[in-house]
Amino acid sequence: MTNRRVGIIGAGAVGSTTAYTLAMLEVCQEIILYDIVPEMAIGKSIDIAQATNFSRKNTRIGFAANPSQMRDCDIVIVTAGVPRKKDMTRADLLMINAKIVGEIVRDIVEYSPHALIICVSNPLDVMTYLMQRLSGWDRKRIMGMAGALDGARMAYELNKVTNISLAQTQAMVIGEHGPNMIPYPTLSTIGGIPVELLVGKNDLESIIENTRTGGAQIVKYLQTSAYYAPARSIVAMVEAIFNDAKTIISSSVVLEGEYGYSDTALCVPVVLGIGGVEKIVELEVPSQIKTKLDKAVASIQSNIAILKEHNVL
Ligand code: NAI
Ligand code: 2OP
Repeated sequence: MTNRRVGIIGAGAVGSTTAYTLAMLEVCQEIILYDIVPEMAIGKSIDIAQATNFSRKNTRIGFAANPSQMRDCDIVIVTAGVPRKKDMTRADLLMINAKIVGEIVRDIVEYSPHALIICVSNPLDVMTYLMQRLSGWDRKRIMGMAGALDGARMAYELNKVTNISLAQTQAMVIGEHGPNMIPYPTLSTIGGIPVELLVGKNDLESIIENTRTGGAQIVKYLQTSAYYAPARSIVAMVEAIFNDAKTIISSSVVLEGEYGYSDTALCVPVVLGIGGVEKIVELEVPSQIKTKLDKAVASIQSNIAILKEHNVL
């Protein structure tokens, strides 16, 4: 691919930080920002473009004044929506963001018909499902960013306890991007050593709990949700795709029988490459994890049911 073009819909905290990170790392040749508030997309794109002068990178950053100006993107990242505020659950955002996402999907299908989509808007698994169903595209082209961020949060918590290189820490989180998130120590390692051999049971329990509440912790301090770690996590997915790296990153994807589930999106380990979700890594899971997965799917499907009742789907 000679001219990799990334469209970012929503130039708020996550969208603009993603654009900045992509530009600083020169992951693509071109970034186009679009926001329903045009001034956001224009102002942020100028600011980021000026930052590239010192970083000596060649990524071009522009804006789209309307959806039709964001054309022929290779990847479209959807961060539009309303962020979760203190005391607001992700499900509270459901109907507001479903309407926004519905309009956005129509534009992507029309103007970037060959794109892959990375969904970021919450509630993440439900929005990923909605995008796949509304686009009608092959499910491997639509992935939700969740496990990458939740894994980074778990790695941070592991590092606080072990004080062993965060860069060597690889944490796996599956399930729902929400209360039924499943931090998975058995699939997490530090320097190749399973964390269960390095961390005691009590510490592991705190690590799991702190990972699950990691997003809410940030909201408590900032009164709005996180954006640096989300942006870097999105960029990790873009890097895996553009480099055709076949990287395993836990991501939300529509399931068709994998892990025993259908008619839902769920965060599971997937192989990301130039084709998007090139493989869903289906593992045998012990019964206590299966019970947690059942709960996660039930929660996601209850929100999908609400969308169906309101004829969004
Ligand atoms: P923000 O409020 O800073 O930015 C959202 C932007 O979307 C605003 O600039 C707004 O004008 C724009 N927007 C709204 N409707 C639009 C439309 N129809 N078309 C184009 N732009 C539109 O919010 P922030 O913090 O950037 O979060 C964005 C979304 O990402 C939220 O849903 C949030 O919950 C979610 N999120 C998800 C994460 C994940 O791990 N999946 C992590 C962090 C945030
Ligand atoms: C987060 O986990 C709000 O989903 C977002 O930070």
